[in-house]
Amino acid sequence: MKNIIEAKGIKKTYISGKIETPVLKGIDINVREGEFLSIMGRSGAGKSTLMYQLSLLDVPTSGEINVDGTDILSLKNREKTLFRLNHLGYVFQDYALVPELTAVENVSLPLLLRGMSQKDAIKKAGETLQRLGLERQINNLPSQLSGGEQQRVSIARAIVDEPKIIFSDEPTANLDAESARVVIDLLKDLNKKGQTIVMVTHEEEYGRETDRILHLSDGKIDREDVINHNKFK
Ligand SMILES: Nc1ncnc2c1ncn2[C@@H]1O[C@H](COP(=O)(O)OP(=O)(O)O)[C@@H](O)[C@H]1O
Ligand SMILES: [Mg+2]
Repeated sequence: MKNIIEAKGIKKTYISGKIETPVLKGIDINVREGEFLSIMGRSGAGKSTLMYQLSLLDVPTSGEINVDGTDILSLKNREKTLFRLNHLGYVFQDYALVPELTAVENVSLPLLLRGMSQKDAIKKAGETLQRLGLERQINNLPSQLSGGEQQRVSIARAIVDEPKIIFSDEPTANLDAESARVVIDLLKDLNKKGQTIVMVTHEEEYGRETDRILHLSDGKIDREDVINHNKFK
């Protein structure tokens, strides 16, 4: 199977004033198309930093990153924005929903940004929410939803325009066990249908349910656990 992400020699050093903080110290990663990859490591290990580099939310200090056939580090800012919009979906631990917009309006945003008419965008957003079991909540504001429901809305927003890759940073961190289960099952289900997913988590039990775990420690990948060997034949 082909690699949808190929990253080589990724280094990231945060610089503020005279203080340099090396966080990523040379990381090579390949992600297969259709893989559900998890990135694990203790708090402060650099998991979020690594995900931001791979998902065009930040720029590494050095290294090479190819995503879906594009050398993403050569893109100009505007091209990057379009690339994110057209290829990638994001799910964060704090949901990152717009508080003034209803569930269906939040989910319609990526479609509006891509130029879809408001009528069509709302229709498609509603269908996606329905698929995730949120048909009764479409007109609720985020403040009128539970944490688990807000996370499902943010997953709906991430998948509404069928991105090639979903990046998810600790999607279950703020959820109770029951809602976390729903979110993990949802991601697994999307992956079964072919979606490539890169998920940061510090919960071993969820990592174990993905295809492969990369363990990050001291700015390097110090171990790889292949769980679903069938995917890597
Ligand atoms: N914007 C930033 N500026 C300076 N240091 C940062 C910044 N973001 C993260 N760090 C530092 O980088 C390290 C890794 O952070 P992070 O990637 O968030 O770790 P993790 O997600 O594994 O908990 C931490 O020591 C953190 O303080
Ligand atoms: Mg983090």
